[in-house]
Order: sequence, then C-alpha cells, then structure tokens
Amino acid sequence: MVLPTRPQAQSLTVLDNRTGKVFEFPIENNSIEASHFKDLVEPGQDEPLRIYDPAFQNTAVAKSAICYIDGDKGILHYRGYPIEELAEKSTFLEVAYLLIYGELPTKPQADEWSHQIMRHTFLHFQVGQLMKNFNYDAHPMGMFISVMAGMSTFHAEANPSLTNTDLYLKNEKIRNQQIHRILGKAATIAASSYRHRIGREHNMPRNNLSYTENFLFMMDHLSEENYMPNPVLSKALDVLFILHADHELNCSTAAMRHISSSKVDPYCAVAGAAAALYGPLHGGACEAVLRMLEEIGSKENVPAFLEGVKKKERKLMGFGHRIYKNYDPRARIIKKTAYQVFEVVGSEPLIDIAIALEQAALSDPYFIERQLYPNVDFYSGLIYKAMGFPTDFFPVLFATPRVAGWLAHWNEAVVDEGGKIWRPRQIYTGHEKRSYIPSEYRKNNIQTAPPQISPFSKRSMVATWSSKL
Ligand code: SDX
Repeated sequence: MVLPTRPQAQSLTVLDNRTGKVFEFPIENNSIEASHFKDLVEPGQDEPLRIYDPAFQNTAVAKSAICYIDGDKGILHYRGYPIEELAEKSTFLEVAYLLIYGELPTKPQADEWSHQIMRHTFLHFQVGQLMKNFNYDAHPMGMFISVMAGMSTFHAEANPSLTNTDLYLKNEKIRNQQIHRILGKAATIAASSYRHRIGREHNMPRNNLSYTENFLFMMDHLSEENYMPNPVLSKALDVLFILHADHELNCSTAAMRHISSSKVDPYCAVAGAAAALYGPLHGGACEAVLRMLEEIGSKENVPAFLEGVKKKERKLMGFGHRIYKNYDPRARIIKKTAYQVFEVVGSEPLIDIAIALEQAALSDPYFIERQLYPNVDFYSGLIYKAMGFPTDFFPVLFATPRVAGWLAHWNEAVVDEGGKIWRPRQIYTGHEKRSYIPSEYRKNNIQTAPPQISPFSKRSMVATWSSKL
C-alpha cells in the first residue's frame, strides 16, 4: 500500500500493519538509520523489528571519506582522485599517504613519509626467525598472516588492552608509529615469505630504493654486486600496488574495521584482514584465475568451459563483482600494463586464453544478464606469472598494497569518537527451550525424552543415576 506523501520529502513513511502505527524516518545520505526500526515492536513481543541483510548486500556499516565506487559506471576514486590519474601520475607510497591522511603530500611531507616507511622495512631478528620456522612449502599467505600477527608481540605499546583502550584515539604519534612499521614491514614480510618458498636467504631491505624497487630487490637479489630491478617491472608493480591499495568496504577491509572495533592492536587486525583477503572469492581469486586458465589450456576449450560455468558447475574466476556491474576500471589499466611487462619478459601465452574467455563471456547472454565483467583479479595474475612469481604468491601481492587501505580505514575508525564495538544481531532459527537428556536416552541423534516418572520414584531415578556417576 503506498501512502500519499509530500513529494521530494527526504523521509520514509512506514505503516506497521501489526499495530496500525505510522512512522516517519528521515533519509540522510540516501540511507535510513537501522536503529529507527527499533521503534517498531510487535504487540506482546520484546524484540524490536530487525533489518535482515545476509552478506551485507544492501547495508552501510560505516561512514568513510577514503574511497568512492560507482559500480554501474565503473568509477573508482581514492579521496576524490580518479584511479586512472593516480595509476598514471602517482606512486604507491604517495597513494598510501593520500589514503591514510586524506591529501596528496607536499614535497617535504612526501620525503618524511618515504623516510619513515623505508626506515621501518627492517624486521626484528626474531621475526625473521619466525619466517624460517615454517615448512619449506608453507603457503606464503599463511606466513604473511602469522608473522603480521606475531609482530604484535614485539610492540607491546601498540596493544591498547595493555595501556588504555583510547590509546589511539588521543595519540596520533603512536598511531603513526604503527602505520610506519606495518606498511614498511609488509613488503619485507612478503619478500621473506617468497625467499623462504624458494629456499634462499632473506635479503636485507635497501631503504635507498623506492617501495616497489626495494620489494623486487628483496625478492630477486642473489649475488650481483649492483643489482637493480628492471625499471619497467618496478613501475608496473607500483601501478598494480596503486590499483590494489584500497576498495571501499570490501570483505577484508570490513574485517579490518570489524576487528579494530574491539580496540585490538593494528598488527592483529591487519592479520585478520589478510585472512579474509586470502579466500578465493576475494584476494585469492587471482591465484584461482591462473589455475583456471591453465586448466582450460587452449582457446579451443573456452566454449566448453563456459558451458560448465553456465551449468553452475564452477565459477568464472576473475569475473563478477558485488559492486561493479560494469567493467572494473582497474582491470582495464592492468590489461594495458600487462603488455608493457610482456615487452620486457616476453608474452604470457595464457593471455590469449584470457582474452578469448573475456570476449566469449562478454558476448554471452548468461554473463550479460548477470552483469558479469572482468574484475581486478582477471588479468593481474598473468602479469605476476610473466614476472616469474609463483601462483600461490599472488594473494600476497594483493595483500601487501592493500595494507595501505586497511591502515587508512583503521586510522579513520579508531579516531571515530563514536567508535562502538561491532556486534551484529541474528535471526534465531534454532530449538525452543528444552531439557537435558541423559545419554542413555539419546538414540542416534534422536533425542528421546526419558520416561515421565511420578515424583515419588524420582528419588530412585536420581539414586540410580548418581550411582553411575
Ligand atoms: C575482489 O569487494 C571488493 O571490492 C573486492 C575486490 C577488492 O578490491 O577488494 O574488488 C577484490 O575480491 C574481486 C572479486 C574476486 N573474486 C572472484 O573473481 C571470484 C569469482 N567471482 C564471484 O565469486 C562473485 O562474482 C563475487 C564473489 C565476486 C561477487 O559475488 P556476489 O556479489 O555475491 O554475486 P552472486 O554470487 O550473488 O552472483 C549473482 C549471480 C549468480 O547467478 P544466479 O544465482 O543469479 O543465477 O551471478 C552469478 C551467480 O552464480 N555469478 C557468477 C560469477 N559471479 C557471480 N557466475 C559465474 N562466475 C562468476 N564469477
């Protein structure tokens, strides 16, 4: 039933048919505060009306000024700057500053920022030892997550529970100290996990290099006297790091804000966010895309593979997005960057299969109807493979730059004075209240109640029972 309302009123009028009451809720920022619905209570009930939104498909859980996405138009801005301009003109460290502090740095700010981050690239000796205790074939994401959490044990002052829960709220200096350490060391942890996987000594950072040059140096330097990474590859990786730095409240960033809401230290929060990113539906997708392309094996197999996807036997990895119902703007830039890398390292044959897959999917009604387009993960893995990274290292190449976005959201969330602990509710679908059943009356999970006994013989029941205890 649509009630007559004043046109253009920024409000929602709700008629609760259970009570006949009419409510008017203000609409702000194109949203309604869910707490307004607490006023709607069914007669005879205690619990107010809840908003049910599994997987947060239409729920805003925070206000943030960091990243803007328009999924229908394929738009992505970091602090108002279009991703295309940042990818072309900026550097990853400058973008990290922008995401965390809200503005592009002046030259003195950029120099100090780079000095602070690069001086914190060194790992504590025992953190390095932590890395060395993993099995030779440990997945690098498992190492990244574990060591990041382990770093919290080396910086006690970072743990609010040991000092005071508003530690970060008031102390920008301590907040920045953790930001410098985590962003600086993320690349070293990532590079060390790679060196561990290939059985080589870990390289010490070179803090006179740029962030991505140093990252490639730590990954690849062996014994060459004046080894320097290829500048085209360093630049390509820097662009990829810019593109992966942040993306609104994606699964891992929402996890970062959720975990941070308990006021735990940022090392453990980043480890938790990295764990969320590791999943194949999220940052693990770039690894899954490569395995999918290798499985398809040739362009001729693309039609049969897509038939399997349409029968829902599997997903087309690297396609689809919760927000983008258009081409992911990052995928376009990555596709262009891929050819710059191929000119240096030689082409990656799998890209021909990827292009054939993209062309077939984008002209197939199944994918068109579902607005499924290539996302950030569809082409990135091809670049990483062409650059010689092992497939299971791809999620680490996603997590490392995403640390900047996680820290930006952490920095924003902890300063939010109203920062309350995140504690969503549920719709309970379990059993009504029921009494305990002694084990002798439980038959293959069918909980048969004990025989009803009259009060006078209850004592004998208890006596029997207690004699068995
Ligand atoms: C990232 O959130 C972010 O911003 C993430 C990210 C970031 O920067 O942080 O952008 C990075 O995680 C990119 C996404 C990487 N993941 C993948 O490439 C895995 C494959 N993609 C899908 O699993 C899926 O598209 C998701 C998880 C990305 C989005 O899933 P949604 O929004 O929950 O969509 P859905 O599952 O409800 O799909 C709607 C329909 C369904 O079909 P019907 O039930 O309507 O018939 O589309 C279908 C789905 O089956 N569908 C796919 C598909 N993705 C969705 N069918 C085949 N292949 C796919 N990839």
